[in-house]
Amino acid sequence: MRLSWHTYQYYPYERALALREVTSLLKATSTHAFDGGIEINRYEDADSAGQLTYFAGYVNGRGYTQTVQARLEDSKKRQATRYSVHGLHEYKGKFNPQIVRAILNIFDVCPSQRVFDPFCGSGTTLVECVHRGALGYGTDLNPFAVYLANAKLLALTTPAARLKSILQTLATRFRQTRRWTTTVKNDVRGTYLQSWFDPHILQLIEIVADKIKAAAGNLAPIFLSIASNLLRDYSLQDPHDLRIRRRKSPLPETPFIDTFLFAAAHFLERVESAQSVLGVKKRAGEAILCDVTALKQKKKFRQFFDAALTSPPYAMALPYIDTQRLSLVWLGLLTADRILGLESELIGSRELRGSQRRDIIGHMHGNKAGLPKAQAAFCVTLQEALTPADGFRRKAVPTLLYRYFASMQESFQSIRTVMKPAAPFALIIGHNHTVLGGVRYDINTAAHLASIANNVGWKVDELIELQTYHRYGYHMNNSVGAETLLILRNQ
Ligand SMILES: C[S@@+](CC[C@H](N)C(=O)[O-])C[C@H]1O[C@@H](n2cnc3c(N)ncnc32)[C@H](O)[C@@H]1O
Repeated sequence: MRLSWHTYQYYPYERALALREVTSLLKATSTHAFDGGIEINRYEDADSAGQLTYFAGYVNGRGYTQTVQARLEDSKKRQATRYSVHGLHEYKGKFNPQIVRAILNIFDVCPSQRVFDPFCGSGTTLVECVHRGALGYGTDLNPFAVYLANAKLLALTTPAARLKSILQTLATRFRQTRRWTTTVKNDVRGTYLQSWFDPHILQLIEIVADKIKAAAGNLAPIFLSIASNLLRDYSLQDPHDLRIRRRKSPLPETPFIDTFLFAAAHFLERVESAQSVLGVKKRAGEAILCDVTALKQKKKFRQFFDAALTSPPYAMALPYIDTQRLSLVWLGLLTADRILGLESELIGSRELRGSQRRDIIGHMHGNKAGLPKAQAAFCVTLQEALTPADGFRRKAVPTLLYRYFASMQESFQSIRTVMKPAAPFALIIGHNHTVLGGVRYDINTAAHLASIANNVGWKVDELIELQTYHRYGYHMNNSVGAETLLILRNQ
C-alpha cells in the first residue's frame, strides 16, 4: 500500500508522528519512503488507512482513496486548522487539531472509547474525538471555555440545514427591525458593558442576542459564540492587545450585523462540509465546568477513561479570564466583580493576593507540597538568584512556579482517579525561560511535569521533542517555539 503526504509543508515532528500513526493504526512492520509518501509492505489493518492524519490518501488494489482528514481539511497550500467547527471562536492557547487526531491514532483509540481532556479549553480534543467517533469529555474552570466547547459539539450534532434555516430567519428578522434601541439595565452587568461599548453598539448587540435566543432556542450558543467572537473588534477595547486597554484605532466601518451574518454563513459552510464527510453525529461527549483537582466529586466521571490528552496551562499562563471578560460578561457567564477572583483560581495564574507570596516562599523552603526534590530545589535556586534589581514581576516568578508545580501535582493525582489502569495520558507542553539577577534560566516544563507526575504514580513512557521550525520559511525564533509531547501511563 502507498500512502501519500498532504501537499502542505510539514514540521519535522509531523512526519515523525505520521510514522507512529502508521505503526499503531495499521500495525505496519515494514515501511520505506518514496517521493511524495511512504510505502508499507506488511500491515494488518488496511481499512484504518482512511483515518490517518498526516496523509492525504492511499493507493491499494482499489485505486486512490482520500483520507477523512484530507476531506475535512480540504486545503492545498497550508495545513488548515479551522476546518469543521474548530474556527467557531478564538481561544488563546488553542491546540493544533491535527496533533490531537494523530495522538488519538497513536493511542489506537477506538470509536466508542472514552477520552478525557482535563484542561479542555475551547474543546479541540472533544471535537477531534467526535471526528474519530470516540467520546471526548473535558473539564475546564473557565465557564467561557466550557460554553464554546459545548457549542462546537452542538454544531456537529445538528444538521447544517437546520442551522442554515435559523440563520435565514435571523437575517430576515434583522432586516425587518426598524428600531435598534433598547434600555440597557444599570445593574452590574449593564454598567460594566456600558463602560466598554459605544451606547449604540451596546444596544444593538443586546437586541442581536435577544433575537438569536428567540430564533435559535437551545441552539443559540452556536450563534451567540459567533457574535461573541466579534465583540472585541466592536468594543472600546484595543482589539490587538491581550491586556485590557482602551482602543486608539477607530471602530470597524462594516456594520456589526453584516459582519455577524457573513461570519455565521462562513461557519455554517464549514459545518456543512464537515457533515458531508462525517454525517451528522448522533452523540458527542461534553465539556463540564469543574476544577480538575475535584474530579472525584463529579458523578459523570465514575465511568473510567481509556485515554487522556491535553495541553495544560503553563506556569505564568495567559490571562484567560481577563482576555475574555467582554464575552464572559455579555453571555452572562460571569459577573464583572468575579473576573479577577476566577483568574486567580486558574492554574498558572499570575495573581498573588495579600500575603500569598510570603506564605508560598515559606512552603517552598519546607517543600510543604511534597514535590520531588529536584523541582523544589529548582524553585529555591530561582528564589536565591533574585537581586534587588529584579522588579516585582520577576520577584514573583519562583513563587508562581512553586505554586504551579504544586497545583499540577494535585491535578495529576486527581486525573489518575478517573483513568483505567494502564491508560495513556498525552500532554503537549511548551518550553519557557526567565531572567533573574541578570542570568537566564531555562524552565523545561515538560521534564519538570514528568518528574512531578511520576511522583504521584504516573509512569513516564516518553518525552518527544516537537520540532516546529522550517514551516513557511519562519526561523525558529519566529515560530511557536519548541514544545514537548509527554506521554504518561497510569500504573
Ligand atoms: C492551554 S489551555 C487549553 C486549550 C485547549 N487545548 C484548546 O484547544 O482550546 C489550558 C486551560 O486550562 C484551564 N484551567 C486552568 N486551571 C484549571 C483548573 N484548575 N481546572 C480546570 N481547568 C483549568 C484554563 O481555563 C485553560 O482553558
